[in-house]
Amino acid sequence: MRARRLRATPAWRRLVRETHLEPSRLVLPLFVREGAEHPTPIASMPGVVQHSLDSLKAELHRAATAGIGGVMIFGVPEHKDAEGSGATDPDGILNVATRVAVAEAGNALVVQTDLCLDEFTDHGHCGVLDARGRVDNDATLVRYRDMALAQAEAGSQLLGLSGMMDGQTAVIRAALDQAGRTDVALLAYAAKYASAFYGPFREAVQSSLEGDRRTYQLDPANRREGALEVSLDVAEGADIVMVKPAMSYLDVLADAAASSPVPVWAYQVSGEYSMIEAAAAHGWIDRERAIDESLVGILRAGADAVLTYWAVEVAERITRA
Ligand code: PBG
Repeated sequence: MRARRLRATPAWRRLVRETHLEPSRLVLPLFVREGAEHPTPIASMPGVVQHSLDSLKAELHRAATAGIGGVMIFGVPEHKDAEGSGATDPDGILNVATRVAVAEAGNALVVQTDLCLDEFTDHGHCGVLDARGRVDNDATLVRYRDMALAQAEAGSQLLGLSGMMDGQTAVIRAALDQAGRTDVALLAYAAKYASAFYGPFREAVQSSLEGDRRTYQLDPANRREGALEVSLDVAEGADIVMVKPAMSYLDVLADAAASSPVPVWAYQVSGEYSMIEAAAAHGWIDRERAIDESLVGILRAGADAVLTYWAVEVAERITRA
């Protein structure tokens, strides 16, 4: 048997290719900064900015034209407090940006919102703290419930539950259903690991976190626990489950893809983006080939869609080719 026969020409390789990079499988994360008049570059993520509401509109049009699947919006508020009150304020930046996104591109793109408190709390944790300074799971669920209702009201079509509190998917699904919002879907960040690869994101959202998230995000050493979290979120009513980060967790992703009855997505996070950009800027790797290979690898491992900061660039390049 000679396997090389099927690799002989570009036409052969295209015909027998198993995994396809398609614009519709890419989702672009977007940062929107309260009070910003112009887009602000993020130093550790070359090519990514904190948007103003005006530059957000322009980016949404570009994303819709490129044919990507959707956008995931993150808010960067001007003021933070212990409860993260900006997250539930209808005039808070995330809810305002969501209304803008739905009005501009809600038919062409699935508009998604990050549902977590870390951008809005002065201590930078994903939840509220108890008297001893620990993240209080059940008190946080009350905040998440209110945040979900505010995001649904702003028009979000898919809530990205990224806080890693126990029971968050069930509580939010019940609250939405009770409010008559059975139309709003839930993307559960089921297997979200306590990762060093979120480093640049902390600059992107101007996080005030000191310390780490190891009491609520998963230990990078644990594979079985990732599968457990996926099954819990599916049982609690998740419409889609997420594995995050992507490249260092392809085994967890493959497990989820094999067992999940709902779509499985992966988040190629800020550090994964910055590593490739930095190496490419030094001329150490071929930038476009490395980007495409990283995305194909994530799809090949079993992701149905990928959140990636290169979504629009890659979609435009695929469409041009
Ligand atoms: C939490 C959240 C984080 C990211 C997405 N949602 C940060 C964290 O958990 O510390 C990271 C995304 C990235 O690094 O690109 N709201």
